[in-house]
Amino acid sequence: MNKEILRDLSYGVYVVSSKKEDRDVGCIVNSAMQITSSKTTIAISVNLDNYTNSAIKETGEFVLQVLPEEVDSNILKTFGFQSSREVDKFEEMDFERKDNYPILTCAIGYLHVRVTQIVEVGTHTLFIGEVLSMEKLKEDTPMTYAYYHQVKKGKSPKNAPTYQEEVKESNKKQYVCTICGYVHEGDLPEDFVCPICGVGRELFKEV
Ligand SMILES: Cc1cc2nc3c(=O)[nH]c(=O)nc-3n(C[C@H](O)[C@H](O)[C@H](O)COP(=O)(O)O)c2cc1C
Repeated sequence: MNKEILRDLSYGVYVVSSKKEDRDVGCIVNSAMQITSSKTTIAISVNLDNYTNSAIKETGEFVLQVLPEEVDSNILKTFGFQSSREVDKFEEMDFERKDNYPILTCAIGYLHVRVTQIVEVGTHTLFIGEVLSMEKLKEDTPMTYAYYHQVKKGKSPKNAPTYQEEVKESNKKQYVCTICGYVHEGDLPEDFVCPICGVGRELFKEV
């Protein structure tokens, strides 16, 4: 089986937020899709290890926020590579509260979803739900998963359903960012900063 074709499936990049013991939590997902139009139903796939998974199960609700291409890398780092188990992800974010959920200022729009079906699929939970409210907040270009990989040079962490192990293809030295997984090829200059999450070279390790 050649897994390469999996990289040709298309997705977007979103923040999914919910609540755990009344605290705002959330994570990045690419796995979101519209299932039906009448009623409008949406599905997302969330890893069992993600704190957001248990939050959605607790509240029976989630909010899907559409991110723009030019999203601040701090949002990708915080929501995609850290856990609400350890950090308050919304603490330093700009947001406005809608339907009692924090909507990031950069979000193009959001969908507030009530979960109607939960399907456990091995490592991930498929949450299917009915849209309670939705709003487009601004005109901007939504980020696709292809743009995230090709232009932002972003990586998928192990918990993303689309994760694939990196294969080293050249003999050049490679350094991986221990925060976001970005791989840099060639020597690291003194003033090097990660183009995805902005940390310095001290947080890179040789592959
Ligand atoms: C581009 C990108 C796409 C991701 N897609 C998913 C996804 O579809 N489902 C998922 O469970 N995790 C996905 N992740 C991983 C989670 O965002 C990540 O594990 C996060 O740290 C979980 O945070 P939490 O523990 O606060 O829920 C993705 C991460 C990135 C950067």
